[in-house]
Amino acid sequence: MTSEPYNLEPAARMRVLPDYVFGRLNAIKLKMRQEGRDVIDFGMGNPDSPTIDPIVRKMKLVLEDHKSHRYSVAKGIPHLRKAVAVHYMDYYGVDLDPDTQVIATIGSKEGLSHLSLALLGPGDACLVPEPSFPVHIWSAVIAGAQVITFPISNDADTFISGLKTAINNAVIRPKMVYLNFPHNPTALCVDLPFYEKVVDFCREEKLFIVSDFAYKDITFDGYKAPSILQVQGAAGIAVEFMTMSKSYNMAGWRIGFCVGNARAVALLGQIKGYYDYGLFTPIQVAAIEALKLPASEVESVAMKYQNRRDILVEGLNRAGWPVEKNRGAMFMWARIPEPFRHLNSMDFSELLLQEAEVLVSPGSAFGKAGEGYVRMSLVENSERIRQGIKNVSRLFKRDGNQD
Ligand SMILES: Cc1ncc(COP(=O)(O)O)c(C=O)c1O
Repeated sequence: MTSEPYNLEPAARMRVLPDYVFGRLNAIKLKMRQEGRDVIDFGMGNPDSPTIDPIVRKMKLVLEDHKSHRYSVAKGIPHLRKAVAVHYMDYYGVDLDPDTQVIATIGSKEGLSHLSLALLGPGDACLVPEPSFPVHIWSAVIAGAQVITFPISNDADTFISGLKTAINNAVIRPKMVYLNFPHNPTALCVDLPFYEKVVDFCREEKLFIVSDFAYKDITFDGYKAPSILQVQGAAGIAVEFMTMSKSYNMAGWRIGFCVGNARAVALLGQIKGYYDYGLFTPIQVAAIEALKLPASEVESVAMKYQNRRDILVEGLNRAGWPVEKNRGAMFMWARIPEPFRHLNSMDFSELLLQEAEVLVSPGSAFGKAGEGYVRMSLVENSERIRQGIKNVSRLFKRDGNQD
């Protein structure tokens, strides 16, 4: 019994949410930094570079105009939705109706979460490949739906066979599936034939597809990530989320889009109407400026990550930690190296933090299938990546042979 004159017991839906996995590691990191220790932070995928300059300049200009201070158009000002449609045509040859097939969201995380709430509820089920970006699972759980996981793969036949098994074993027939390539956390990438097969299968199974395309431009060595909407007729069965966070270093600005299936876009707009009034107008206008930038600007953002990837992969391999080069996304997904495999991913991450002053994300943060792995975000500069490798190498030399 508490003595407070109110009842602040969390709602039932809160009780199913797990503790924040990064909480413990972040607390150790903070303490270490307070003690003056220099932690190399490969934890959160938070872009470290500034937003591309003309975008910031545009924002400042519009901010000065008091007319921009009112509530904006909730689903995104018409010019912005048009700019997104033009972007999809230019980049992917995909024709979108800006009025019915494009909606602005407060970052893709907000859009993904509210779409789950609009499409899923108690008595519904959805499918999520695992390991996964936590929002794909937890937004559906918060909505009250049952989440069925199956192993992630970038081989279409393996992926579809995982989907089939999950559907066959499901008590409730799943209504939709989340895709996310380039993938967080595994950095797996796919080509268009993958989507063609998956769309075909989902059509047969009447499964709606939510494709999270957060890392669409963060691709390396000439690889270009396809949009699922490039598959003929895919907008009949899918929506795709894109975000300004990674491609334009605009993570703090909170702006993304949901595009494709008009009915899903309308339902997202409907539910958002109960939660928000849309994005601040100067952010929307600045996003138009961003979308008009030449592709070379976005390519140079990707190039920075590619250089960091090269340094990290080559360095870790030299240190005796075998990792492979990924084609996209801003992460390395690395199996815990041999001498440390008796540790789970949380304990191994804690060891790296305490003893090598390197923070990584434990694979278990992305679901059970992530156990045995860690994720490293490419958000430190080259010099600090080299320092991180030195620290890891020293730890491996010290502990690596004893186990
Ligand atoms: C796969 C994936 N989707 C969506 C997001 C959310 O991005 P934002 O809400 O900034 O658009 C992230 C962020 O890291 C992500 O990794």
